[in-house]
Formats: sequence, C-alpha cells, structure tokens
Amino acid sequence: MSQARTFRIAPSILSADFARLGEEVRNVIAAGADWIHFDVMDNHYVPNLTFGPMICQALKPHARTAQGQPVPIDVHLMISPVDALAASFAAAGADLISFHPDASGHVHRSVQAIKAQGCQAGLVFNPAEPLDVLDWVIDDIDLILIMSVNPGFGGQSFIDSALRKVEQARRRIETCGRDIRLEVDGGIKADNIRRVADAGADTFVAGSAIFGQPDYAAVISRMRAALA
Ligand code: DX5
Ligand code: ZN
Repeated sequence: MSQARTFRIAPSILSADFARLGEEVRNVIAAGADWIHFDVMDNHYVPNLTFGPMICQALKPHARTAQGQPVPIDVHLMISPVDALAASFAAAGADLISFHPDASGHVHRSVQAIKAQGCQAGLVFNPAEPLDVLDWVIDDIDLILIMSVNPGFGGQSFIDSALRKVEQARRRIETCGRDIRLEVDGGIKADNIRRVADAGADTFVAGSAIFGQPDYAAVISRMRAALA
C-alpha cells in the first residue's frame, strides 16, 4: 500500500501569532514544516472568522525555505459558497485549495474551477460526513482531507472515529490508483500522529501542537521521530 509514502507536516497558522504572521511562517518553515496550512473561516459555514486572500498574498513571499525553495500554501476553505473565493485564493498564491463538499452546490464544478486556476484541488470531510461523493469525483482531485475535529477552532481533541474514515479513504485511493494525498486535520500531536499514519494518512495538519510550544523544531522532530 504505502511503499512510497512520504509524510508531510502542515502546521496550521490558525494557532500562530497573528501580529507576526510572516515571521511565524518563516520560523515554522525553518523548523521543518513541509506545507503551510491556511484555515479560511467565514462565520457562516463555521462559527468563526479568520483571514482572506489578501493575507495569503501577503504571506506568499514568506512561504520559502532559507534556500529559496517555495513551500506550498495549503488553503482549507471553511466557507460557503466556494467558487468565487477559491479563484481569489488561486490568484493570491495558494498551491492547494480544499473545500467541504456540503459547502458547494456543485462539487464537480468547484473542483474543475480550482484546477483551471492551476491549483491542486482537495475535498474535506467533517467528522459525521460520509465519503460517498468520492464515488463521483475521486478521479478529479489531488487531496482528501479528513477532519478529526469539527471545523472552526484550533485546540480541540482528536475524534477517534476519524481513524476509520482515514482507513476507508486510503482504500479508495488505492482502488483509484492515482497519487492523491491523504491529509488529516484536528487534534494531531506527537503522541497520536503515529496512529493516524498507521490508519493510512500521509499529511498531518497541526496547529496548537506546534504553535503552542516555544520550540517548533522540537515538536516537528518529535512528530517525525514518531512517524519514522
Ligand atoms: C480547524 C482547522 C484546523 C486547526 C487545527 O477547523 O481546520 O486546521 O488549525 O488545530 P489543532 O491542530 O490545534 O487541532
Ligand atoms: Zn484546517
């Protein structure tokens, strides 16, 4: 199954210091982040409000390693409707854009619209949501994001039933045979990341676990050691 699985750690800047976001992005990249996870909330699809495309655009120049290698910006849209803002995020430098299928009236169209802008497209599944829509769009997407908390806030506890859903998603990816990332978001820490990987995930969002500690590199190394 996972012969060539490369693990990616995607710190969520939802838990960063918003007064110093550029510096936080640079610091967490220096600490070993593979992707920057960017949580967009609209106070409508979820009961919280964060940041929009202008902030993504402002952070884009900071999303590079010290050697100048670009680090992907992984935009997680918790907004409804999807399409207009997805296009704005593509223009603002997003590399991957994921949305919740129940937030879009036309999932296939939203996926195509994201890809037409040159971004990778992902679908996000809430804790109580089935994966059924994948029957019809798995051939079109680049990423599946399984929520292991209800979307809207950082710092919540991991919901264990997400592991079964990750296993199901991994089986669907194997059946489809395409290179699709399987990401998990919510409540991930160094002490549970291994279980999430064993269920089949290859990409791990972590907000409070990383930004809640003074030494980001130490947390990321502990996560990588748990995955090794
Ligand atoms: C929650 C967001 C998450 C959040 C995770 O709606 O999608 O990305 O930042 O935070 P932690 O890692 O603290 O659970
Ligand atoms: Zn997220």
